[in-house]
Amino acid sequence: MSTLEWSDELACGYEDFDNDHKHLLGLYNKLCVSLGKIDDDQIADMLEELISYTGWHFRHEERIMQEYEYPDYFEHKQVHDTLVSQAKDLYEQFMDGVEGIPEQLLPFLKNWLVEHIMGLDKKNGQFLSEQQ
Ligand code: FEO
Repeated sequence: MSTLEWSDELACGYEDFDNDHKHLLGLYNKLCVSLGKIDDDQIADMLEELISYTGWHFRHEERIMQEYEYPDYFEHKQVHDTLVSQAKDLYEQFMDGVEGIPEQLLPFLKNWLVEHIMGLDKKNGQFLSEQQ
C-alpha cells in the first residue's frame, strides 16, 4: 500500500482541520512504511495511536460544527461514528489474532482519509470558512 502525500486537493478550507488531517496522514504513512518490519505489539501501538487520534479529531470537528450550527452535523457525525466503529472492529480482530488485518486496515484508512476529507470535510470546511 502506498503512502499518502499532502496536497492542496486535500485541503478542506479550515486550517485547524487541515492540520489534524496532516497529522492523520503522518500516522497512516508511519504504519504503511513500518508494516513487515515491526512486530505485532508495535503494530498494535500504532493502530491504537491512529484510532485514538482519529477519535480526538472527530470530536474536534463535531465541536466546531455544533458551535457554528452546521446544518449537516448529524449526517457528518453519523459517518464519523461508523468509521470509528469499523476501525475498532478491525483493531479487535487484529488483537484476536485474525490474519491480514493491517492489510485490510490500510486500504480502509486510505479510502477514509481521501474520500471523507475530500467529501464531507470539504463541505464542512467551506461552510465554516463562509462563517468567518
Ligand atoms: Fe476530518 Fe469529518 O473528519
